[in-house]
Amino acid sequence: MATMTSWVLRHRPHGEIGPGDLELVDRPMPELGEGQVRARVVYLSLDPTNRIWMSDQDQYLPPVQIGEVMRGGGIGVVEASRSDRIKVGDVVNLGLGGWTTHVVADGVALTPMPKIPGVPLTAFMSVLGATGLTAWFGMVDIGQPKAGETVVVSAAAGAVGSIAGQLAKRRGARVIGIAGGAAKCAWLTGELGFDAAIDYKSEDVGARLDALCPNGIDVDFENVGGEIMDQVISRMNNCGRVALCGMISTYNKDGPAPGPTDFGRVLMHRLTIKGFIVIDYLPRAGEALAELGPLVASGELKWKAHVVDGLENAVDAVGRLFTGAHDGKLLVRVSPEA
Ligand SMILES: NC(=O)c1ccc[n+]([C@@H]2O[C@H](COP(=O)([O-])OP(=O)(O)OC[C@H]3O[C@@H](n4cnc5c(N)ncnc54)[C@H](OP(=O)(O)O)[C@@H]3O)[C@@H](O)[C@H]2O)c1
Repeated sequence: MATMTSWVLRHRPHGEIGPGDLELVDRPMPELGEGQVRARVVYLSLDPTNRIWMSDQDQYLPPVQIGEVMRGGGIGVVEASRSDRIKVGDVVNLGLGGWTTHVVADGVALTPMPKIPGVPLTAFMSVLGATGLTAWFGMVDIGQPKAGETVVVSAAAGAVGSIAGQLAKRRGARVIGIAGGAAKCAWLTGELGFDAAIDYKSEDVGARLDALCPNGIDVDFENVGGEIMDQVISRMNNCGRVALCGMISTYNKDGPAPGPTDFGRVLMHRLTIKGFIVIDYLPRAGEALAELGPLVASGELKWKAHVVDGLENAVDAVGRLFTGAHDGKLLVRVSPEA
């Protein structure tokens, strides 16, 4: 009997995701119903929000239930089809198909991937996928940086942050990135055109912000939360904007995440703090892709993917998001592209 292999949630993690929290199980491959297709997963996206989905905290999607296949975004190649729309060999966006080797789904639920000469498939899992849309809507729609303004991006060398910072630079802002380690900081200033970078692992973030932002901060693209967010918000100018994209420093902690200590500053300085989730912006994806597509095709916008081979390594790999031991959008290659 043909089988598929999937990661199933067994326990809700406390702190970091532990070895027994998920289990790799073989399951029978379902028969295809009318209109259904079976795809083998090629790339699985690993995202900080995976940790949120494993918890039962109040969140923007239902938590993954104990015993369910872990949720995750992916791209795959169709191996069998009973759909008029999707044929064998098509490369399709599987939506949130899960941490699994195969997905069986209705053909109408799958989107064939575009082909852009010179643009690898991994781009559609990163800069031309949810990552790029998150950076674009957060920075352009919410942050609205203007020429001469000062923008700070946290987790700036990561998948979302690196794109967000480049978009702010293209709008003429001064962009300061906060990242962990000298190599990531050097990439920001040396290759991406950031004006400065702060290594939060070895430098005093507040003191460096004082030195680098003598006229205050106008936009905070916030990926980290906690102490780093506090340091940025406490230096924001009148009518500053906070695009609250993520709070990764809090995801492995139980209980509510702390907000800005000086909440009164939001009032005194007329700040706007807007939390956002990229799925709300998907109907407007074309607006972002109209800018991102040509910039990626021309190579003007820089991005990286960090690919880990083998679905069996997904649990170990997802931990890299919380230590920074990855270099670019974190993906698992579940099966070969060809
Ligand atoms: N709102 C949305 O719809 C949406 C969509 C996608 C992502 N996000 C959010 O965007 C943020 C970045 O996600 P991503 O997918 O692009 O991942 P990523 O930035 O490629 O990886 C996460 C990075 O976070 C940094 N980090 C982890 N723990 C930290 C800590 N305690 N203090 C400081 N930095 C820490 C690490 O950077 P260093 O190596 O520099 O330490 C790590 O590389 C996350 O907060 C995520 O939840 C939001």
